[in-house]
Amino acid sequence: MHQPGITQLMKTTLSGKNIVIGVCGGIAAYKSVTLLRLLKKLGAHVRVIMTLNAGAFVGPLTFEALSGLKVCSSLFANDDGDASIKHIEWAQSADAVIIAPATANMLAKLAAGIADDAVSTFLLAVTAPVLLCPSMNTHMFEHRSVQRNLKILKTDGYHILAPDSGELACGVAGPGRLPEPEIILDRFIACLTPKDMFGRKVLVTAGPTQEAIDPVRFISNPSSGKMGWAIARAAEMRGADVTLVSGPTSLSEPLNVKTIRVNTALEMQQAVWHHFEKSDIIIKAAAVSDYRPVNPKHRKIKKDRDEMILTLQKNPDILKELGKNKGERILVGFAAETEELQKNAAMKLAQKNLDLIVGNLIGPADSGFNADTNRVKFIYKDDTIETPPKMSKDAIADLLLDRILRLKASG
Ligand code: PMT
Repeated sequence: MHQPGITQLMKTTLSGKNIVIGVCGGIAAYKSVTLLRLLKKLGAHVRVIMTLNAGAFVGPLTFEALSGLKVCSSLFANDDGDASIKHIEWAQSADAVIIAPATANMLAKLAAGIADDAVSTFLLAVTAPVLLCPSMNTHMFEHRSVQRNLKILKTDGYHILAPDSGELACGVAGPGRLPEPEIILDRFIACLTPKDMFGRKVLVTAGPTQEAIDPVRFISNPSSGKMGWAIARAAEMRGADVTLVSGPTSLSEPLNVKTIRVNTALEMQQAVWHHFEKSDIIIKAAAVSDYRPVNPKHRKIKKDRDEMILTLQKNPDILKELGKNKGERILVGFAAETEELQKNAAMKLAQKNLDLIVGNLIGPADSGFNADTNRVKFIYKDDTIETPPKMSKDAIADLLLDRILRLKASG
């Protein structure tokens, strides 16, 4: 299962925000404990409101210990003598809400506007974005009334995270399982991210290519895919329709992104061309091998010689070919350089007919291949150069998308 990690974007989106987790009575209620911890780790102020039935699965004390705050589970004054109307107060101060698990009962109440316990009453008073995470038995989930309620809630503007499929606690296999907390968090951030790339079709390449010498050896480079995957993920969060063509990496697949895995430059070329026509923004962060062995061997080469000569042939320059056919599309390349970053990157920008090239400094451990941070220069067609400070690859991805949107807007 792919589980997206914590990114800079998540921290920026959630730090200092008032988040309320609503927990309903379902076997998956335990996952909300981890969700609470993740949200706290990102700097959010988290409060938990729960139904009485949820308390049968996870006690309020667990949530109180982890959030450091009293849980609200009643419409009336709590044992601590606090007579404030918590569910209304919390609804008004919430920046965003997650209901996980959201039971069939809670979905029905919300769709019908019924307010008869702390969570349902709280929900009717919320004006902030709400992510509903349905979780229940498969037959219940597929029941006409639940599906009807989900449709109503979607129309009402609620964000809904589809449940995972698999074997459920009740022994039935099918949709109904609450997604892992990391996935809930990822989709929660997506709900909160402004959709300034909605309607854009973005094609991103990432990672290395591997060019076979024999079945056990290949020519490649140290690209981890982090830079390109960060771009794909950021564009998806911002509402774009994203296709990612990636060489081999060990990263977890970005959610809601069409990811095509390739090994060789020729495979990458084919996948890129297949999606080029319908894309309006193309970002090539992949480190494509410039050469591949001529006639790779089908059997493992024996090491019976002291020297071996490997004959290589040039791979097609995918980006250069795209540049010749770019039309109205925005075409962005990357250039990993150990010296004369600006000069070499600018040369590639011109040769490949790009709108923008990201010159990527290679050498320092905090930049380039496999690093989590990057040092780059944005070089534009009109010779303008921008040098952002060292940033996380997520932050660079967002900045790059900002710049691309600016280019699009300026025509
Ligand atoms: O994956 P990470 O570990 O996060 O590392 C990120 C990165 C360093 C790989 C990335 O930021 C980067 O700089 N990628 C470009 C690597 C490179 O040096 O490319 P290049 O100078 O060989 O090629 C320039 C451009 O042409 C690139 O956009 C490349 O994708 C493209 N190209 C190159 C050769 C080729 N045959 N076809 C191409 O399309």
